[in-house]
Amino acid sequence: MSFPSTFLWGGATSSVQYEGGFDQGGRGLGHMDFIPCLSEEDRKRLPFTFNQSLERFEYFRAHESESNLAYRRGTDFYHRYQEDIALFAEMGFKCFRMSVSWPRIFPTGEELEPNPEGIAFYHNVFDELHKYGIEPVVTMIHYEIPLNLTLKYNGWESRETMEAYCRYARTLLDEYRDDVTYWITFNEINMTTHAPFIGGGLFVEKTRKKNEQSCMWQALHHQLVASARTVAYCHETAPQCKIGLMINRQEVYAQTCNPEDELRALKDDQFNFGFLDVAVRGSYSSTMLSYFRENDIDITMEEGDAQTLASSSIDYVAISYYMTWVASGDVEKQEPLGCFVRHLRNPYLKLSDWNWPIDPVGLRITLNRIYDRYELPIMVVENGLGAYDNVVEEDGQKRIHDDYRIDYLRQHIEEIGHAIDDGVEVLGYTPWGCIDLVSASKTEMDKRYGFIYVDADNEGKGSYDRYRKDSFWWYQRVIASNGQDLG
Ligand code: BG6
Repeated sequence: MSFPSTFLWGGATSSVQYEGGFDQGGRGLGHMDFIPCLSEEDRKRLPFTFNQSLERFEYFRAHESESNLAYRRGTDFYHRYQEDIALFAEMGFKCFRMSVSWPRIFPTGEELEPNPEGIAFYHNVFDELHKYGIEPVVTMIHYEIPLNLTLKYNGWESRETMEAYCRYARTLLDEYRDDVTYWITFNEINMTTHAPFIGGGLFVEKTRKKNEQSCMWQALHHQLVASARTVAYCHETAPQCKIGLMINRQEVYAQTCNPEDELRALKDDQFNFGFLDVAVRGSYSSTMLSYFRENDIDITMEEGDAQTLASSSIDYVAISYYMTWVASGDVEKQEPLGCFVRHLRNPYLKLSDWNWPIDPVGLRITLNRIYDRYELPIMVVENGLGAYDNVVEEDGQKRIHDDYRIDYLRQHIEEIGHAIDDGVEVLGYTPWGCIDLVSASKTEMDKRYGFIYVDADNEGKGSYDRYRKDSFWWYQRVIASNGQDLG
């Protein structure tokens, strides 16, 4: 396996799940600040917790003081970034993916001038990273928008939010273009179709559109236009930077060679590619337009939007990859699996403790498929195993023997290596939650991904001290050998 010498090994986080300090440094409230960590019982009962309804949101707003609002805490990067970055450097990280908290820069989203304390905070973080030669990879929005924009404009349903984002994104580029080379305009832009609240900051119940699908797609259209405008601004003002867009890549297999199954898989795949098609090719694919017609989706596209989309193209594709889907022509057969979607169980794959299918070869397949379609470099900016970790005391030290995580990551890295040998240009790999943080789908701490353990539980209790897991030392060897020592 030939990883290039420039390969960006690192790890990934998001401000909403990691940063904390929600009421410090002049930060405003974000739309996720009212999502509670559920009780054990509710967590088992509900497939995922983040697709907030208006009713639930209002309930937790009214019960703020007695609610367990985990995103407000994250795992305290805000106060511990120096300690954490030193640990990343010890592992040998070449890059670190993080997101900027929009409400920390523009507390309501509508200010004309950014919050100076927020601006200074990220300068300090980037300086700290550069001290160790770590390249920041910065997501401009990862499931976090100022609460004011959700309440006043129903989030991304309105163009006002799009304008506010463009001002915010321009501010980031103007301020940090000398500190940050790799940018991502949106985390998993396609998630707005699965979880409109988390992805679009919108309540579909409040829509002015004729149906929920139209509401979600209106929001997505605004996001795609905002992304294109940001890419164009970046190319114009910071040509040394590379800017990409990210999707949650959902590779689909047909359940059998029955042409009906194959057709369903093809349709699902066209849908999944539909978002990147806009960002790379500059317009909606004709199959996507036909999907809109068939599903009575009405999107208001203003004059100039088509030209904006056509005017810029991303420099690289960013993906998260966790699992693959199995599609059947018989939709009645679909069953819930994992947390985001309905699909079929693949008998060849094992499931994680959270029922997410584990498919390393699928990563090689998907990298090939994306590269065949666009011939653009790809960065795998999320992948990993959410698992329960057990802390044991040995020789007076806390140890976490996470061989299951090492196995998972080893297999996925091997497949990235094979994809590179297949001819795919892969820029880097940043496994998700390189340090433990709050889970997105279940809002809990129990589901851990990190190389670094954080002593915090679902209720937010604990010292928040950091401990190196076995995978920490293993990943250090992987990076030091540029992917040759996976043992
Ligand atoms: C990705 C998101 O979809 O999945 C992350 O970008 C999220 O924010 C990750 O944390 C893993 O999901 P979960 O639910 O296990 O935290």
